[in-house]
Amino acid sequence: MSEKRPFYITTPIYYPSGNPHIGHCYSTIACDVIARMKRMQGYDVMFLTGTDEHGQKIEKKAEELGTTPKAYVDEIVANFKKLWSTLGISYDRFIRTTDDYHIESVQKIFRQLYDKGYIYKSEYKGKYCTPCESFWTESQLVDGKCPDCGREVTDASEEAYFFKLSQFAPKLKELLLDEEKDFLNPKSRVNEMINNFIEPGLQDLCVSRTSFTWGIPVDFDEGHIVYVWIDALSNYITALGYLNDKYNDFDKYWPADMHVMAKEIVRFHSLIWPAILMALDLPLPKKVYGHGWITFGEGGGKMSKSKGNVVDPFILSERYGVDSLRYHLLREMVFGSDCPYSNEQMFMRYNSDLANDLGNLVSRTVAMTVKYFDGTLPAHKEFNGSDEELLSMADELPSFVDETFSSLRFSEGLEKIFRVIARANKYIDENEPWILAKDEAKKPRLAAVLYNLLDTVRRCAILLTPVMPHICPEIFEQIGADESVTTWDAASQRHLLAADVTVSKGRVLFPRLDVEKEIAELEAMAAPARELPEEPLKDITNFDNFAALDLRAVKVISCEKVPKSDKLLKFIVDDGFGERQVLSGIAKYYEPEQLVGKTLAMIVNLAPRKMMGLESNGMIMSVRDGDKFRVVEFADDIKAGADIS
Ligand code: MSP
Repeated sequence: MSEKRPFYITTPIYYPSGNPHIGHCYSTIACDVIARMKRMQGYDVMFLTGTDEHGQKIEKKAEELGTTPKAYVDEIVANFKKLWSTLGISYDRFIRTTDDYHIESVQKIFRQLYDKGYIYKSEYKGKYCTPCESFWTESQLVDGKCPDCGREVTDASEEAYFFKLSQFAPKLKELLLDEEKDFLNPKSRVNEMINNFIEPGLQDLCVSRTSFTWGIPVDFDEGHIVYVWIDALSNYITALGYLNDKYNDFDKYWPADMHVMAKEIVRFHSLIWPAILMALDLPLPKKVYGHGWITFGEGGGKMSKSKGNVVDPFILSERYGVDSLRYHLLREMVFGSDCPYSNEQMFMRYNSDLANDLGNLVSRTVAMTVKYFDGTLPAHKEFNGSDEELLSMADELPSFVDETFSSLRFSEGLEKIFRVIARANKYIDENEPWILAKDEAKKPRLAAVLYNLLDTVRRCAILLTPVMPHICPEIFEQIGADESVTTWDAASQRHLLAADVTVSKGRVLFPRLDVEKEIAELEAMAAPARELPEEPLKDITNFDNFAALDLRAVKVISCEKVPKSDKLLKFIVDDGFGERQVLSGIAKYYEPEQLVGKTLAMIVNLAPRKMMGLESNGMIMSVRDGDKFRVVEFADDIKAGADIS
């Protein structure tokens, strides 16, 4: 048996500086789809993901929370893993940069670079963006701010090690422009790298810090911590066992076939990473893909707090199915461009593609096979030339899907699969099985029509399996396709279903969504939990009880403290008919002078009662404000005695 060809694909390793969100899902799902497809195609796949846990940002965050960096990241890393498991991410290895073996390898890598003369000691003076963990030169700043995230940068000056990045500029340019290698995609990023970084002159890179401790120590110079990007990028080789004994797959899987990421970190992967590998005398990754961002809200930022738009991937996958979410993200994002996220768009797409087109095709075809043939097609079938268009459209799919998926052009691949699905639905209408069924002599033609449909569903579902790995097996079950006819190669062949295939009706795969209802429900979930008033609502009363109370605006003529009481204020108010005395327990919240001249709300017909030996005729109304009370007051032009209703 021939050896399986290795295929190595990686996601970025994510910062556990906050919980994972839907933006992180995109790269991870994209890699998962490619990994699953390659496995189906017979590759020996290594799919790596993980977390990038060191750096000042994490150190600060943990400090703010009064915990240790490790305890802080442990919790978030667990959430990343939980999300990947919910989304069906089939990674083979998960690396944490706090893993001992990784730390050991990074120290060795740093030392090797130093020993070879690619790292030297000097002094760093420049600008540093803490959230991005990036050093910038004055000329790289945009309006004096970090060019990546637009935030403030700070002056930094310290003794530090530098990597001779500048020396690699010609080789990097050659790499980026090598059409055959086709190293970086989309091509717009190549121009960006050359124009923004290489042409202005690549600077040597500061690769150690001394101002914080949460990182990998340089093992030959105490106090120096390896720059977090050198630590992070190395994960792609340390996770295979480079310079450690934990794993032994380096020779098998390196160089990586694909590094996948969003555009903001392409610079690190297409300039710094290849330069480090060149310095280490290691082969370079074959491809680097920088997709766009999923953007949120009006600002279109990479990720902002959702504004009434619940984008919690746990909630979305629980309510609408993991596969629907996977499908939606991949179908909407055009490789290279940003893509605004919207639940509404997801529901529309779900209803049109998944419920109407795919779900309907499967359920109609299975239902008709049950209805007209008791679920088992007869061997005798009558095919004819009108079947060709549908079948040949399906013939074209596998190579197109392979090509588009492999280069992150999922939307194109999926669109084409769904064109075949739409064509199959049209084929039903053209052939009118319900009419064929009325005539016994036309049963062989009816059998052929249903067989073509079932087999087209089979071929499409094979190609959709990497994207919808949970639903497709259910489709296979419903259309009676066993494992031997659902391999990747089987998608290229027509009519592989058994001639006497038996279908079995299953559940509705994609129940239609009521878009408005779903949006309203998600919005309700996004609304912050209400803080309920302390006083619960009273029982319903009748109108007469309300009408019996005489509520009026009154003017405060004088106000003073009641001696020996820290609660009571004594008021003389004008109720429009004359003056009266009233007491109120708000002395803690007001100086008496503050209230003189104000127009307040008062119940004027309560029976008089005595407090501290003084008579109170009525009650001044006030409203609770946390643990204080404030009087209910009106504008000055409201007349004394105006009734409140
Ligand atoms: N730790 C570094 C990567 C080191 S790789 C050696 C890092 N981490 S991150 O947590 O900020 O993740 C960045 C990556 O997450 C992006 O490059 C992208 O792959 C993914 N995304 C995060 N938010 C995203 C969107 N809103 N949209 C699409 N992808 C996004 O940078």
